[in-house]
Amino acid sequence: MYIRKAAARKWLFGLLAFLAVGIGLYAFTFYGTIDSARNSGFAEGKAEDHLPDLWYTFIWLHAISAGTALGIGWLQFIRKIRRRNPNVHRIVGYLYSAGIAVGGVTGLYVAWYADGGLSGRIGFTALALVWLYTLFRGLKSIIVDRNQVEHSWWFIRNYALTCAAITLRVYVPIAAGLFGITDNNDSFTVIAWLCWIPNLLFAEMLISGRGQSRQRPIEL
Ligand code: HEM
Repeated sequence: MYIRKAAARKWLFGLLAFLAVGIGLYAFTFYGTIDSARNSGFAEGKAEDHLPDLWYTFIWLHAISAGTALGIGWLQFIRKIRRRNPNVHRIVGYLYSAGIAVGGVTGLYVAWYADGGLSGRIGFTALALVWLYTLFRGLKSIIVDRNQVEHSWWFIRNYALTCAAITLRVYVPIAAGLFGITDNNDSFTVIAWLCWIPNLLFAEMLISGRGQSRQRPIEL
């Protein structure tokens, strides 16, 4: 029974890593330069919004910084890497954190212009704020407080929020396929919230489900 559970966990983790790398690569493919960001289907779909020039720079910065963080963040939860090569954990950690810092600040800016009306804008703004806050707590817990357990909990929460980039891209086709909602202005009213709140609840479940082993960092 235990072996089956452990195998299922590894499969799920593998799927997560696959989606994270895939969507990170998608960000680099379509938003690798400011010009490609400008010519992306997503930006062209927002042409009617008469976006300021700065938006294109920020969406480019946002996509490559957050895309990097998403693509490498899962590595941090692999125990073997941490034990055998703590320097890799440190370097990936700082790169990941820089990605979230830039992705979060630019996310705050692009949230102001997001589809989905007021609900979409507030949903993405709240996500960016919680994302930056959990990053701050994750860094503080290890750099200042030297508390590995809390460090792992805050980064579980933080990566669950980073994975909003995955869940959003799962919900958009579901909204189109199941409910016929193809306009982001309609779907983002809900998806701007749905892409991250269940992720955060899942992270809380993982953390509180540690039972007797609550005092150990979460790892694979
Ligand atoms: C978790 C915090 C995040 C916040 C608050 C956030 C916020 C936003 C916002 C507001 C938009 C514009 C939506 C619109 O104008 O309607 C956007 C677009 C985008 N974001 Fe993020 N984002 C986050 C995470 C990520 C991550 C981790 C990635 C990594 C791939 C990412 C990649 C993109 C891309 C590529 C776009 C352009 C739209 C597309 O092609 O799908 N974002 N984001």
